[in-house]
Amino acid sequence: MKVHSSFETLYTSSEISEQVSRVAFEITRDYEDRCPLLIGVLKGSFVFMADLIRLLNIPLEVDFVKVESYGSSTISSGVVNFIQGLSSSIEGKEVIVVEDIVDTGLTVNHLLSSIRDMGAASIRLCVMFEKQLKRGFLVPIDYLGMTVPDKFVVGYGLDYKGQYRGLSNLQILELH
Ligand code: IMP
Ligand code: MG
Repeated sequence: MKVHSSFETLYTSSEISEQVSRVAFEITRDYEDRCPLLIGVLKGSFVFMADLIRLLNIPLEVDFVKVESYGSSTISSGVVNFIQGLSSSIEGKEVIVVEDIVDTGLTVNHLLSSIRDMGAASIRLCVMFEKQLKRGFLVPIDYLGMTVPDKFVVGYGLDYKGQYRGLSNLQILELH
C-alpha cells in the first residue's frame, strides 16, 4: 500500500523568527550579568539554537546532548535513550535547556532530572514549540516560542523519519 502525505503551513518562517526574537529578548534580560550554558537537545533543537544564540546579547556557552524517544514513528515510544552526553562538566553552571518541541514532556522531564543530578547551579527550560494537549508530564517551561495543535509537525529542525528538518516554515504533516 502506498503512503501519501500532505503538508499544511502552520507558522511561516517570519512568524517563527518574530517569536525567537522575543524569547531571545527575555533570556538576554534575565541573564544580563551571567554566562549561561545552553544545552541543546539533538537533533531537533539545532536550528532553533543557531537562531537563538545569534540574537542573545550576553556571553554564553553551548553544548548538546542527544536523546531519542520516537525512533522512526510519530508516536512517542515512552522510553528516552541517551545517545550522546555532555562534552564537559556542568557543575556550578547556569544551564538553559533548549528543546525543539515538548509533546508528552517525557524527554525534557528525564533530561532535567539528569541535569539536576549533575550539579548545575540553576536550570531553566527554553522550548520553541509546545503541543497544546498535555497528556503526560507537567513540565514548567520558562521560555516558550509558540504553541502548536496536537498534530505531528515538521520543519524548523523537526523531522519525520529524519527528513524535513530544513523546511523554514513549520508544517503540519498528515499521513494518509
Ligand atoms: P515528548 O518526550 O513526548 O515530549 O516528545 C518530545 C520529543 O519528540 C521532541 O524532542 C521531538 O524530538 C519529538 N517530537 C514530538 N512531537 C513532535 C512533532 O510533532 N514533530 C517532530 N518531532 C516531535
Ligand atoms: Mg527532540
